[in-house]
Amino acid sequence: MAVDNSRLKGFFQLSVEERRSILAEIASLSVEDIASLESGGGMDSTTADTMIENVYTTMSLPVGVATNFIIDGEDFVIPFCLEESSVIAAASNMAKRCHLNGGFSTDVDESMMIGQIQLLGIEDLKSSSEALESRAQEIIDLCNSLPSTMVRLGGGCKRIECRIIEDMLIVHIIVDCKDAMGANAVNTMAELCTPLVEEISGGEARVRIVSNLAIHRLARSTATFTPEEMSTDGSIESGLEVISGILDVYRFASIDPFRATTHNKGTMNAISSIALACGQDWRAIEASCHAWVTHNQGRYGSITEWKQDEDGNLRGSIEIPLAVGIVGGAVSVHPVARANLSILGVDSASQLAGVMASAGLAQNLAAMRALATSGIQSGHMKLHVRNMAVSAGAMENEVEQVAKVANESGQRITQSLVDGILRSLRG
Ligand code: MEV
Repeated sequence: MAVDNSRLKGFFQLSVEERRSILAEIASLSVEDIASLESGGGMDSTTADTMIENVYTTMSLPVGVATNFIIDGEDFVIPFCLEESSVIAAASNMAKRCHLNGGFSTDVDESMMIGQIQLLGIEDLKSSSEALESRAQEIIDLCNSLPSTMVRLGGGCKRIECRIIEDMLIVHIIVDCKDAMGANAVNTMAELCTPLVEEISGGEARVRIVSNLAIHRLARSTATFTPEEMSTDGSIESGLEVISGILDVYRFASIDPFRATTHNKGTMNAISSIALACGQDWRAIEASCHAWVTHNQGRYGSITEWKQDEDGNLRGSIEIPLAVGIVGGAVSVHPVARANLSILGVDSASQLAGVMASAGLAQNLAAMRALATSGIQSGHMKLHVRNMAVSAGAMENEVEQVAKVANESGQRITQSLVDGILRSLRG
């Protein structure tokens, strides 16, 4: 269940312990969830050793929540796991700026994944392809003979598709993964049906694996931002000016791959951070989102779309493949991922995908708005200065003071400025 109110006013001013107890309360965290959050990373080396090979330690990253998100009429606080300052503040700020029009609206496909089987050595590719299609049900039934919860819940292989690429026949098995990410099940099904596929096609199989270009598993989100919400001073004039600047920034990204890469990286700042916080395969998500842009547009461009409506509002949308799960994989093993999913309060993989797409849209707008107005560095450095204070050698009790003096100095924030402030504070 989502939270009653994602606003969490003044949350940033609280101590880490106070924030944790507020989240524990609003998300009704279990005793185990709270214990895993308190342990600051939450994974003991015994668990870690079961997950990957040659384990010798674990490594932590900060996890924070983005606030103010209203998605499909429900309030969400969204866990992000990342090392970059100002990302969470920026996303939360933009999430607040579309409340007048009800926040974000999502539309998410069923959880269909593609498994690929590459067939070689076929002379008549067309008739092999027809033979496979005419015996599709046998292949589907064989895939679904896999003893799996996904199949029991009504998921599993739903259809097959054949593609001819040069001298290869490529068979796609299309699998409904329900609330799982599903790569493991898809890989197993692809291997399971391969002997039958070989027999029917007369070909020899080589590759049998999931495709991370999850084009049948798209998540969409849209939001409308009024000029007042976009403005720097609450006025319509300033808002219209900001929107016009944002559209210049967007136009650049939509036609130039050098700019699009950075623009999309900014969008992925949210999507990948939520993926990491919630125990998802963020490498698969990164690969599929970037590949999707080119697949969908015929070249690399912006992952988001922005335009102005007839009332002057800024309207943003995003459509991306998101293969995410709330059961299986790291979600079942990683204690903090489980706690983060409880905080997020999603009850299906598709709801998780809708939240991630919405956060990506907000994150992208935050970067564009900064680029269209004061530039990215002033806001970023205000928050990053705490990291610089730590690099300068500030102790825990000195960090806030160094940051305050630097931010109030009116000077460009550089490491040498911060070093100097620390030295002078220490007398
Ligand atoms: C930095 O992590 C992300 C940005 O570069 C994105 C962008 O330029 O749009 C600020």
